Amino acid sequence: MSRTPIIAANWKMNMGPKEAREFLASLKSELCGDCKAVDKVVVPPFITIPTVMEVLDGCDCLGVGAQDVSDRDSGAFTGEISTTMLNEIGCKYVVLGHSERRQYHGETSAYVNKKVKKALAAGIIPIYCIGETLEQRESGQLETILKAQIVEGLADLTPAQAATVVVAYEPVWAIGTGVTASSADAQSAHAFIRSVLAEGFGQEAADAIRIQYGGSVNPGNAVELMGQADIDGALVGGAALVAASFAAIIKASI
Ligand code: 13P
Repeated sequence: MSRTPIIAANWKMNMGPKEAREFLASLKSELCGDCKAVDKVVVPPFITIPTVMEVLDGCDCLGVGAQDVSDRDSGAFTGEISTTMLNEIGCKYVVLGHSERRQYHGETSAYVNKKVKKALAAGIIPIYCIGETLEQRESGQLETILKAQIVEGLADLTPAQAATVVVAYEPVWAIGTGVTASSADAQSAHAFIRSVLAEGFGQEAADAIRIQYGGSVNPGNAVELMGQADIDGALVGGAALVAASFAAIIKASI
């Protein structure tokens, strides 16, 4: 089954509006015609999103995502951003359940599930992040952890809804460390994730779901990772802060 690769730049708490303008100007000069075969997404901090939209000026060459969204509709929830607001500004994606939100903000898969359902109800594609810590991997809990994160985080979805979700497998020990999973380890985790998705939603939906790899992806390791059968793209942090290296990763997935 052919799945369109999806490469997303998670800028995390980097890139204010001024830097984003500079990044987008450089990215434009780096991308080529063949890059059309890849879904490309930038995920800026909320405050930078309007500037990105202004620069794109309606061009759908680059998708825009948010780094989080509230599980509530509106009202007295200080600091939160709703799906309605993301829709109003034109965000097509939202990263949910990133390990940094699980670690620093106490988000559980059950809580993230509410956000996944909110996003889907609003027509926004969730990029649902999962991944094990080094301790969990070394104590043989890899599959138990990944399965629980999938079952709890994607609970109550119909197969048709699940088919639209992007899953990002980001081993926590590979994030920001310069240590990537080997392509064989990554492929084996991705194949396992797809098998769990097939158990929950059927083979057809599982075959349609794009599973990104994340964790120290860079232009040097991207070709081998993207060449694996069940790796359908990347969620990139550090290397996506430089337009030339983000573009190189995009080209590696063609
Ligand atoms: P790095 O690419 O910096 O390891 O970050 C990965 C990540 O967390 C993307 O969401």
